[in-house]
Amino acid sequence: MPAEDRAAPPPRRSQLRVNGIDRDVSLDRDRSLLHVLREELGLTGTKYGCGEGECGACKVLVDGVAIRSCSTPIGEAVGRSITTIEGLADGDRLHPVQQGFLEAGAFQCGFCTPGMIIAAAALLARTPRPSEAEVRAALDGNLCRCGGYLRILDAVDRASRIAQGGTV
Ligand code: FES
Ligand code: FES
Repeated sequence: MPAEDRAAPPPRRSQLRVNGIDRDVSLDRDRSLLHVLREELGLTGTKYGCGEGECGACKVLVDGVAIRSCSTPIGEAVGRSITTIEGLADGDRLHPVQQGFLEAGAFQCGFCTPGMIIAAAALLARTPRPSEAEVRAALDGNLCRCGGYLRILDAVDRASRIAQGGTV
């Protein structure tokens, strides 16, 4: 049979569950989860920093674990629950980590902030009252080029108290 008579293979598509909504994505081309989130689904809150797993700006939650979406192939995300910074708040109520960052003023340019917040949210979900050493370890892969680390530590401490209903 001549090549031109052969039927093209059907496009490979799948559902990606992002922020509680099933989104239809193509699996035909290799690309990162970050590319799909930003360029195809318009979720630009997740940032492109280094693009090679070094800065943490692209972190999202996958089944509750903070991962670097720039180095996660789209095929690995299928069938899993993805939360981006856009999906962290509960309606009008900010996530405790978002509230903590706001109250501590823990951002300057804000470029690192979504990745920081995602990493901190994952930490507080598994360790509600982390020590400073645990916070530092959880945020170790997240870089802030503005050097706002002390305020970020303060923000996570506030967040953990907010999450437990305490006063800050
Ligand atoms: S953009 Fe993914 S780690 Fe830097
Ligand atoms: S606030 Fe600018 S990179 Fe962190």
